Amino acid sequence: FALATSIVASSIATLPAFAQGGDLTVNWTREEASKIELNQDNTLPYTDISKLEKFAPGYHVWDTWPLTDRDGNIASIKGWKVIFALTAPNDVLPGKVHDIATIRYFYSKNGKDWTLGGELFPHGSALGQRQWAGSAMLDGDKIHAFYTATGREGQAQLTYEQRIATAEAKVVADKNGVHFENWGAHHIILEPDGKYYQTKEQAQQGEGGGYAFRDPMWFKDPQTGKEYLLFEGNSGGAVGERQFKPEYAGSTEYLQQHPVPAGAVHANGNIGIAEVINGDVTNLKMLPPLIEANYVNEELERPHIVVKDKKYYLFTDSHINKYAEGLQGPDALYGFVSDTLIGGYQPLNGSGLVLANPLENPYQAYSWLVTPSLNVVGFAHFGDLGNLSIGDVGNQSPEYQFSHFGGTLAPTVQLSIRDNTTKLEKTLPQGWIK
Ligand code: FRU
Repeated sequence: FALATSIVASSIATLPAFAQGGDLTVNWTREEASKIELNQDNTLPYTDISKLEKFAPGYHVWDTWPLTDRDGNIASIKGWKVIFALTAPNDVLPGKVHDIATIRYFYSKNGKDWTLGGELFPHGSALGQRQWAGSAMLDGDKIHAFYTATGREGQAQLTYEQRIATAEAKVVADKNGVHFENWGAHHIILEPDGKYYQTKEQAQQGEGGGYAFRDPMWFKDPQTGKEYLLFEGNSGGAVGERQFKPEYAGSTEYLQQHPVPAGAVHANGNIGIAEVINGDVTNLKMLPPLIEANYVNEELERPHIVVKDKKYYLFTDSHINKYAEGLQGPDALYGFVSDTLIGGYQPLNGSGLVLANPLENPYQAYSWLVTPSLNVVGFAHFGDLGNLSIGDVGNQSPEYQFSHFGGTLAPTVQLSIRDNTTKLEKTLPQGWIK
């Protein structure tokens, strides 16, 4: 506990109150995360990736999301379901895919045989140098597409700035499929405020630590009718401004027995939320984060909520290498439950772990998303290297060799939930959205 004490003592007098969260922001604590354990209710079966269908030949496919209606149900337009995915040609190095990510869409009548429709936005019209994950909501015959504008359009040098953007278009469906027409202007609707959500500039001060402001996910609260976007962020402030608080660790007993390494300060992942004002998706009010993982985890990706039996189930994805010093967890889907949308979240299954890759294949799948019928959709890393040789891949950082390797849709998983526990029920066909 010596190190943690010194962090507190040195920071109280001099530092501003960054990484404060709001009064109702919940900490995912080191004590809770230390209970993460793989078992048969949370561990995915081993998948032979070489047997999976590459449903978009020529492309890596990773983060995927379905078209929903305003209430969050899977939408159907003249019998068609639609999904959107980040894609990149599969002849580029795996680590490169994030630099050229493009949103493409697919449609299907049965929710499992997907036809590639093409690029979502007319080529070159979206904001950012490239587009990262988001969500899509059907409103009458219009689609509201939300996405992450990464880097600045028009800049030659690749940058990692992340802003949340939206655009709308008309959806046209006929017997041949689905397409989008009459795209309106693209708008930036959210940028980090530096108080609750770390800016790129703050992230650049001091060594290490994550920077994320991305993955907008539409959510309508069925109990109040209010509408929101959830997103992935990092707690505000530069690394040197973050003061340790005992509640990041958990109980007093736990903290006494488990000193917090100073290096844990680099982890400051959070789950952000903003309220949509009067149904206008371009008019948002930023709110304090729902959850912070300060000194616990650096990335809480693609947050989304499923409401069941009047409880709010908040899910997020994270990686092995995003845990704070002294903690360990798998590439997995994590979750929290509360009786209210804001405040009160408890980690599901005690630790937060919901679905993990099997130990023998720790990077098998990623970027899981839970649908209202508790189907979990994710992507599986390719078992082969497309047009690449092992030599090409070996020239990249280990992180990119595996955990960020684009792929194809993974077998869907059926989850069940009882109060604050979850169970992996069975594996369904690849990419199936019921
Ligand atoms: C998750 C993720 C998202 C991001 C995308 C970028 O797999 O890191 O948070 O939008 O990948 O490719």
